[in-house]
This record gives sequence, C-alpha cells and structure tokens, in this order.
Amino acid sequence: PRAKRDMFSSRNIFILAAIGSAVGLGNIWRFPYVAYDNGGGAFIIPYLIALLCAGLPLLLFDYAIGHRYGGSAPLSFARVQKWMESVGWWQVLVCVIIGIYYAVIVAWALMYTIFSFNKAWESNAEGPGAFLFGDFLQLGDVGVSFDFVPGVLIPHALVWVAVFVIIALGVKRGIAAANIVFLPLLMIMFLALVVQSLFLPGAADGLNALFTPDWGALANPGVWAAAVGQIFFSLSIGFGIMVTYSSYLKRRSDLAGSGAVVGFANSSFEILAGIGVFAALGFMANAAGTGVEDVAGAGIGLAFVAFPTIISQAPFGELIGVLFFGSLLFAGLTSMISIIEVVVAGVRDKLNLTRLQATIAVVVPMAIISLLLFPTASGLYVLDVLDEFVNKFGILAGALVSVIGVAWVARRIPTLSRHLTSVSSIPAGRWWQILISVVVPLALTGILVSEVVTKISEPYGGGDYPTWFLGVFGWGMSALLVVLGIVLAMLPWPKAIRTTFD
Ligand code: PHE
Ligand code: NA
Repeated sequence: PRAKRDMFSSRNIFILAAIGSAVGLGNIWRFPYVAYDNGGGAFIIPYLIALLCAGLPLLLFDYAIGHRYGGSAPLSFARVQKWMESVGWWQVLVCVIIGIYYAVIVAWALMYTIFSFNKAWESNAEGPGAFLFGDFLQLGDVGVSFDFVPGVLIPHALVWVAVFVIIALGVKRGIAAANIVFLPLLMIMFLALVVQSLFLPGAADGLNALFTPDWGALANPGVWAAAVGQIFFSLSIGFGIMVTYSSYLKRRSDLAGSGAVVGFANSSFEILAGIGVFAALGFMANAAGTGVEDVAGAGIGLAFVAFPTIISQAPFGELIGVLFFGSLLFAGLTSMISIIEVVVAGVRDKLNLTRLQATIAVVVPMAIISLLLFPTASGLYVLDVLDEFVNKFGILAGALVSVIGVAWVARRIPTLSRHLTSVSSIPAGRWWQILISVVVPLALTGILVSEVVTKISEPYGGGDYPTWFLGVFGWGMSALLVVLGIVLAMLPWPKAIRTTFD
C-alpha cells in the first residue's frame, strides 16, 4: 500500500511541514504568557526538561508509529493492535474540534490584517475590546441564537475554501507547496515584527517582566505541569498529526534527526515570540503608565484587544498590525492544514476513498458545522468551552492511552526503538525506551489528574457559564467523543485495506 501513497518528496519538505504544523497560535499567543506566569526566566528549566524528557520522546513515538505502520492515525494504530484503532479515532475527533476552532481564529486574523491598515477598531470610542465583541463579532448573551454576521462569515468561508483546495491537491502539490510558501513568509514577517517591537519605547520593561526569574516557582508542581502542557500542545503531539505526516515519508528517512530539528525550531520560534510579544506589552504598559503585569495576557484578549491598542499607539503601528496579524494568519493556516489532513487521511483509509472524495466528505460537513456554529452570537461561547476541555485533557488522555497501549499492552516499544534507530542518525535506544514507557506515562498521568481535579473544583469560566452549558459542551462532548471513537473503530475496514502488520 505504501508505494501508492502520495509522499513528501524529501525529508526537508517533511521537516518544513512538521514545523508548519508545530508553529501555531500556541507559539505566538500562548507560550509568552505561560512562561511569564510560571516563573519567567526560571521557566526555561522545567520547559527544557519537559522538552527533552517528554516532548521529544513522544514526538519520536508519533513519528515511529506513522512511519512504520504507514497509515492515517486510525489505520496505523489498528496495525499496532486492533483495539487501538479507537485511540486513532479519538485523535481524529480531537482534530475535528480543534479544526473548527482554528478556522475561526484564522478568519479573524485575516480580517484584522486588513483592519490594521486603517485601524478599523478606532471607530468604536470604547476601544478595541468593545469593537471586537460589539462591532466585529456582534456577540449576544449565552444562549441559542442564529444571527449571522457577514463580516465574520465571509472570511471564515474563505478560510475553509483555501483549506479545501490545499488538502484536495494532495501531499506534494497541496500540503508541501503551501508550507513552502507560507512558512518562509511567516518567519520573515515575524522576525521583522520582533525587531520593530524591540525599538518601541518601554520594550526593555516588557523583557524584564518576561525574563526576570522567580526561582521559587520551580518548587510549584503547577509550573512543571504548565511546562509539559505547553510542550505537548506546541509540538502538536498526541493529535495524530505527526503520525499522519510521517506516514508520508519514504522508507529511509532520518526520523530522530528530523525530530530534533523540528523540536528545536519550534522552541526557538516560541522564545522569539516571547521577546516580540513582551517588548510590545512593555510599550503598552509604558504608554498607559502602568506595570507590565496589568497588560500581560494570552489568547484572544492578547491578540485582538491588546495588540490593536498597541497598533493604535505605536509609531508605524499599521506595520506592526500587518506583521502581527499576518503572522497569526500564516501560522494558523499551516497548523490548520495539518489538523484537517489527520481527519481526511483517517476517513480516506477507512472508506477506501480517493483524496478528492475524502476531502469532500470531511471538509464540507466540517465547514458547514463551523460556519453554522461559530459566526453566531452564541457560537463563541461553545467554542471556548469545547476548546478548553478538549485542549486541557482530550489531548493528554489520548496521548496517555496511546503510549500505555503501545508500550504496556501491545508491547511494541523495542520494535519501534529498533525501527527508529535503523533509519535515524541519532539512536533511539535504551534512553528513549525508558522515557517513553515510564517517564512519559507518569508525567501525563500527573498532569491529567491535576487537570481533572481543577476542572471539578473550579468550574471553567469563573461562573460566566451556566452549569448545564459546561455539562453539555464540556463534559458531555468529551464523553460523546470517546463513545464515537469506539463506535468508529468497530465499523469494518474495506477489503482493499490491510489492517494487520508483519
Ligand atoms: N502546535 C500548534 C501550536 O503551537 C497547535 C496545534 C495543535 C497545531 C494541534 C496543530 C494541531 O499552536
Ligand atoms: Na508550537
């Protein structure tokens, strides 16, 4: 079956696509705040340890599964052991949710790139926050409503069209080509942004706030959990993405060497983003006459409220806007492509479809759900809750079950270790085996338990969401995905697809 697969034409292209997936919103709007909030300069220690002891071993695990078993996530895991197909479907379903969320943010980034030229948010005298929720999104209260907002709907639909075309064109002409164009563009724009931010008055205050180490934080287990959580999300591991992409690698491909390059590139970009974002926040605090702690933040608030404020006040602010939102757009788009490819590859294998058929079967319904749900007034709240639950433990739980299943039930770690070592420039021997079968599951269990306990003891949203809402869209959807994954794994495979290995 491998010979017929559409493959990456070289290892370097694979590395490019893997970096394109890894470098995303997590690097730009999540890492800077996580580092600042968890010990500042001292965070580098748990972060590096998490990268070396959990992130890279798990990245190589995903690579090894995809490369050895040569299928989408459900097919590759089915080839490890029959029951594990459900783990693959779980990862596919997580990608469905995250893809729906990503499309919205990418669409907003597109619109804000355009808004930056004339600082459109200045039309609202109450500031960029009021503009975002009032003029742009036209958000109502929590509840059910279906008032479409054309300013959001049109860019949102465009994003889905772009994703459809890229995925339908295939691995070489679509995914690889998109990354060859977008990733260098992202790197250049982001570097320019960081340089410009460093010249803003007050930049040094921002950098001091970010890098001043709080060594006491190292005694806090929450800080270590934050480091592991950031590394997992940031490297796109445990989502089926790296399994899918590495299944498109030729037989002889340096897996461990590629993993080291991808891990290093992603972390470098993250630290660069920390510098750029906090330099800009230092300027913002300076202009407002407050401390950096009053303006520091992450996510939607940082990107769509704080940055517009900075853009309005900074010299050549329009340029900051185009560079920042353009970076968000390209970083989001390359990650989005990798997320959708996981779903398309899974459906394609299971139904033995052509790429075009599978792309239609996946992207059209996903786009419709995304378009119906999220440009509406209530959609954002659903999105927020879903994303929180799926991100916080969907990924962790999926990764944990996949590692335990492969290491302790199917007992394939020695096989995978031999596989990795035989194709790689860096051996993945005893050390990797110990890290992946003992250290990674322990670390995952630790964070997972603490996340579940937190979710129960402090309901998400600090009281903003009614209990039924969290029950339905948080806990309910999580449980539904587990059941759905198991059901999908029970459906038979077409005769043409071989689900056994060896
Ligand atoms: N790794 C991406 C980031 O850092 C996020 C992502 C998660 C991308 C899952 C693809 C899939 O933003
Ligand atoms: Na990342």
